[in-house]
Amino acid sequence: MAPVPLLVFFALFHPLLICASREDGLAFKKCPPFNCGKLGEIRFPFTNNTSPEICGPYVVDGCNDDSQRIQLVRGGKWFELHTISQANTISITDEELRGHLNSSSCDSFNNLSLPASRPNLYIREISNLTLFKCDLSVNFPHRLEFNYTGCKNFSMYYNRNTSLPSPPPTCSILQLPVNKAESYGDIFRLLTATFSIEVFVSHHC
Ligand SMILES: *[C@@H]1O[C@H](CO)[C@@H](O)[C@H](O)[C@H]1NC(C)=O
Ligand SMILES: *[C@@H]1O[C@H](CO)[C@@H](O)[C@H](O)[C@H]1NC(C)=O
Ligand SMILES: *[C@@H]1O[C@H](CO)[C@@H](O)[C@H](O)[C@H]1NC(C)=O
Ligand SMILES: *[C@@H]1O[C@H](CO)[C@@H](O)[C@H](O)[C@H]1NC(C)=O
Ligand SMILES: *[C@@H]1O[C@H](CO)[C@@H](O)[C@H](O)[C@H]1NC(C)=O
Ligand SMILES: *[C@@H]1O[C@H](CO)[C@@H](O)[C@H](O)[C@H]1NC(C)=O
Ligand SMILES: *[C@@H]1O[C@H](CO)[C@@H](O)[C@H](O)[C@H]1NC(C)=O
Repeated sequence: MAPVPLLVFFALFHPLLICASREDGLAFKKCPPFNCGKLGEIRFPFTNNTSPEICGPYVVDGCNDDSQRIQLVRGGKWFELHTISQANTISITDEELRGHLNSSSCDSFNNLSLPASRPNLYIREISNLTLFKCDLSVNFPHRLEFNYTGCKNFSMYYNRNTSLPSPPPTCSILQLPVNKAESYGDIFRLLTATFSIEVFVSHHC
């Protein structure tokens, strides 16, 4: 009995493997794994910009350099790429955000330019903090634990608690990566520009 439920489990979480066998490994022949510096062997859904798009949505570059970079959207923004795990969790740095955080700039409080999830492509920041970015005029009805009021046009509100009230209409919601080890009091150290995201891709077979 044991092998059957195991196979089902595998099929549910690895749609890629099912697709690959249906296509007789065609994509894998066109897209052999290749070595990329400290990252080791790269394979689908990661590829390079000399390979066809079928080889994967995420383009890795700089394999012969000291540091590598990745595009989460072809032709889009580059992120510094530190590691790729077997479970397709990648560790990256948004250098623009690093600059903003380092200079305690209010430009830190914008959505990351990660691609929006699509039906067959899903990206999730592993460790994020939900913040409310609110008009100065807002009469904040809830008592959140922390705030940052150093910006000209808006204030930031956040909680240690992950269950947040729904924000007033003049607030927008942001989810930004956090440093778990940092204290909540200093927002620019609590937030981090180096973070892990989980990428998930499934083929339309
Ligand atoms: C790009 O990937 C292909 C395999 O898909 C590999 O043969 C080729 O060497 C890689 N190019 C570079 C510059 O790494
Ligand atoms: C952070 O800012 C300091 C000056 O405040 C600068 O010396 C340093 O290079 C910056 N680091 C990064 C990673 O931007
Ligand atoms: C933030 O983390 C939560 C809980 O893990 C997750 O549901 C959400 O998608 C993450 N947000 C982003 C923008 O990745
Ligand atoms: C911001 O936090 C401080 C310290 O907790 C608190 O005294 C102040 O009332 C808060 N400001 C707003 C606008 O919530
Ligand atoms: C502040 O808000 C005003 C009006 O909403 C806008 O024109 C201005 O660009 C904003 N300034 C900053 C620094 O965001
Ligand atoms: C977090 O918020 C929920 C709902 O508001 C509340 O029930 C819970 O006690 C809070 N937990 C802490 C640790 O403050
Ligand atoms: C960030 O993105 C979310 C989802 O697209 C959106 O609802 C929210 O208003 C954005 N926040 C800001 C501050 O732009």
